[in-house]
Amino acid sequence: MSNPSIDNLMHEERRFPPTKTFSQNAIATAGLYEEAKADRLAFWAKTSRELLHWHKPFTQTLDWSNPPFARWFADGELNVAYNCLDRHVLDGNGDRIAIHWEGEPGDSRSISYAELTAEVKQAANLLTGLGIVAGDTVAIYLPNVPEAAVAMLAVARIGAIHSVVFGGFSAESLRSRIDDAGAKLVITADGGWRKGKVSALKPVVDEALALEKDFPHSVRNVLVLRRGENDVDWVDGRDLWWHEQLEGVSFEHEAVAFEAEHPLFLLYTSGTTGKPKGILHSSGGYLTQVAFTHKNVFDLHPETDVYWCTADVGWITGHSYSIYGPLANGATSVIYEGTPDSPHPGRWWEIIQKYGVSLFYTAPTAIRSFMKLGREIPDAFDLSSIRVLGSVGEPINPEAWIWYRDVIGAGTAPIVDTWWQTETGAMMVAALPGVTILKPGSAQVPLPGISIDVLDEAGHPVPPGGGGFLVVTEPWPAMLRGIWGDPERFVDTYWSKFADVPGGPKYFAGDGARLDEDKDIWLLGRVDDVMNVSGHRLSTAEIESALVSHPIVAEAAVVGAADETTGQAIVAFVILRADQADKHTPVEASALLRAHVAGEIGAIARPKRVVVVAELPKTRSGKIMRRLLQDVAEGRAIGDTTTLSDASVMQLISDGLTPPAS
Ligand code: WT7
Repeated sequence: MSNPSIDNLMHEERRFPPTKTFSQNAIATAGLYEEAKADRLAFWAKTSRELLHWHKPFTQTLDWSNPPFARWFADGELNVAYNCLDRHVLDGNGDRIAIHWEGEPGDSRSISYAELTAEVKQAANLLTGLGIVAGDTVAIYLPNVPEAAVAMLAVARIGAIHSVVFGGFSAESLRSRIDDAGAKLVITADGGWRKGKVSALKPVVDEALALEKDFPHSVRNVLVLRRGENDVDWVDGRDLWWHEQLEGVSFEHEAVAFEAEHPLFLLYTSGTTGKPKGILHSSGGYLTQVAFTHKNVFDLHPETDVYWCTADVGWITGHSYSIYGPLANGATSVIYEGTPDSPHPGRWWEIIQKYGVSLFYTAPTAIRSFMKLGREIPDAFDLSSIRVLGSVGEPINPEAWIWYRDVIGAGTAPIVDTWWQTETGAMMVAALPGVTILKPGSAQVPLPGISIDVLDEAGHPVPPGGGGFLVVTEPWPAMLRGIWGDPERFVDTYWSKFADVPGGPKYFAGDGARLDEDKDIWLLGRVDDVMNVSGHRLSTAEIESALVSHPIVAEAAVVGAADETTGQAIVAFVILRADQADKHTPVEASALLRAHVAGEIGAIARPKRVVVVAELPKTRSGKIMRRLLQDVAEGRAIGDTTTLSDASVMQLISDGLTPPAS
């Protein structure tokens, strides 16, 4: 893992301590670290009691008698939606805005806690009326609209389990997620606004449910929100309009409590095989950690701050930091439907100005693309409300970090770089803005109550200055409780690499990391066959299997190549079938296959380049050597080829590179 750009990173010497005023008014103080260190479990128990309302208080904090299956606060009972809604109204904050929603075409809605509570109660009654009961799964395939929050909270309120599928996923991807979860209901919209036009969703649901499989699908109803006003087909008896169904439904609904370990949601994410994993999160531990981190890492003052996380609700960041964290804390949060550049490239900054956003959370890819456009665009807006900036999803390079602070944060706002994953549920490594002396490019320190280490291949902690694998050494409240329907894969994927180390199995995150001399953590990217494109996780195996499902392809290998804007870009190498090779020019084949992958998985998985090759580099045992393909894709000198079965292959591949697709 030694690499010149990483060595440069490690020589980053700029330091940014918090200002005195910021520290004096900060929610989180250094005392949190000491408290958590003195007694980690007592710390989490106290935090949970402080931040949440427990219908039935817990007496037990953690049951780790059967690792890696953790149970947090297991004898306690709570209702997640009550915690995000009702109690704020009962506390007298019903008039506070919960969600400022901004539609892409410029329509907007500001929804108070009282209004959101009433809407969720009504939707909970509707779901019950449709026969949804606790433990059922509901798929949600919606644009970034307030009804996505309403749907998720209504599902949670009645103890059902939501599985939100990002609106950019294809019919095939949606169907496999519906099937895996056995969803009884799909909540969707006719369409949503993206890049200045309506992008249809209901037709994708229709297509998903019409796909021929070996077994019938589990969906009884499709509940359709009217948003895009695009024409849609209708299956009578199955399809229902959201607005029609809500007519006359009561706004009264009493939340009943569920056990802390009651499942809250599934969220599918890519792993190292072709099949996405349904990551399972439960209620009490998850809500505790998302509320704690949202409050302390963003220095949330809920009475005055306006918070905006730009992530779509279809990703974990949208779940934890657009919905559950902010609402559990009674915060005011912005939700934006569309893309950053519609209808003009200053759209995000216009939204910050309009709502006076003070806490802003986004991904390095977005920051880098704004950097490219130039600072004149944000400079044209009043961003003086900004107090704290957050980054998530991929390592943030020091240049982007400095630009973010200078241009968006007026040269003063602290930046919290937050490392976490779909599986961790909540932030794990991040600065506390009133405490930590910031280092551009490093996520820095484990949060209070979180135990992180960097291990070498043999499972020994590396000394300061060393590099290795990032692990979580103790269970944490928001940790995934498993992979839906596949406990074995859960154990194999995360707990087998460091199973026999002192102190019991360690959670292996799949990331490489280095510790600097101060023991601050620098993330180095994935060490497995998982790519990170614009902060979205994609599996090389999943894209390869989409490629070989096309009749012209014989073999495919996919790598993530370093990309200035998106972090990594997908580059595919394919061998065409012998009887097809003459029928398509490389340029035609490339266009065809890029479109095919987008159709199979979704536009986010469309390769940047598809290179038609005659051979792939393989070891004598037949394993594809991705490292060499990565060298080619990144335009580097090709590394050691001595283990190749045929060393001339690499020359052929470099010679045959087609020009990049536009
Ligand atoms: C992977 C998790 C966490 C929500 C968004 C992505 C990478 C995430 C950082 C960061 C460096 C990061 C890791 C991780 N990652 N945050 N601050 N610095 N890398 O969630 O799709 O589950 O992906 O994203 O590689 O393993 P995800």
